[in-house]
Amino acid sequence: MNPIKKVVIPVAGLGTRGLPFTKEIPKELLPVIDTPTIHFIVEEVISAGIEQVIFVTSKGKSVLEDYFDPSPNLENWLRRRGKDALAEKIHRIGNLVEVISVRQKEPLGLGHAINCARHVVGNESFAVCLGDEIYPDWNAKPDFVPALKRLVDGAQTLKSSVVGVVEIPKEDSTSYGIIDVGGAKLSNKPAIIKRTVEKPKPEDAPSPYAIIGRYVFEPVLFDCLKEVKPGVGGELQLTDGMDMLCKAGKLNAMLVDALRFDIGNHLSYLKAQIQSALVRPELASKLREYLRTI
Ligand code: G1P
Repeated sequence: MNPIKKVVIPVAGLGTRGLPFTKEIPKELLPVIDTPTIHFIVEEVISAGIEQVIFVTSKGKSVLEDYFDPSPNLENWLRRRGKDALAEKIHRIGNLVEVISVRQKEPLGLGHAINCARHVVGNESFAVCLGDEIYPDWNAKPDFVPALKRLVDGAQTLKSSVVGVVEIPKEDSTSYGIIDVGGAKLSNKPAIIKRTVEKPKPEDAPSPYAIIGRYVFEPVLFDCLKEVKPGVGGELQLTDGMDMLCKAGKLNAMLVDALRFDIGNHLSYLKAQIQSALVRPELASKLREYLRTI
């Protein structure tokens, strides 16, 4: 398998869970304190050794590309006022990664969005990150390995497509793609997936393991996506394309045991705000003090 150098990040979605904020502003710009969600994701991508970010965009999303552009005027303005640390931060953002955009012209589903990137990805293995989950290092132990890096390393070792999964309460199965591992209990070893099912009812869920928004695929996925028919919600589902990889015995699951926040879920988003504040010395003690009073 080639080294993974490209990631596809679909950002064309309507972001309905974030309305009304997402009416005019992409959900990927929802900030955790002062840092947009997409920034966390791109940092995670870089730490996995990836060099090129392919955004699958739609109308109104160009601001996400702008975010990763250099801003020399702003940078100079900050330096002239002695705000060198902030200027450095802005400089770094403008030089983090190469960004390429492809357009998804109709909201036909996640599988369709990924397939829009096929000509830019070419015949290479690649990663996919969904834009509403973050895996920050706020609890970082010395041996912390970012979620995507674990999957990239796993895929390289196995020479196979790999998807991250987490264990969920069965009643949450209707929010996720669920994997079938033949009743096995997952440990920290990768497991071959027999089947993937998009958002099954709890009674139909083949396991408690939910697909998270971190994937590494061999390019054969694109051949599968071409064959996918409208599935759950009438959409062309990535999970249905993945199910075809499973039929060929070519998809592995890796349990991702990491701090995870779903920015589209209000409670999880609030937890992210609080937990990130608690690792910032200028905020932590004042926030703790405030929380004790309410
Ligand atoms: C998508 C995928 C689903 C996956 C989930 C992870 O669903 O279709 O398989 O489990 O992301 O967040 P969405 O959240 O876009 O409805």
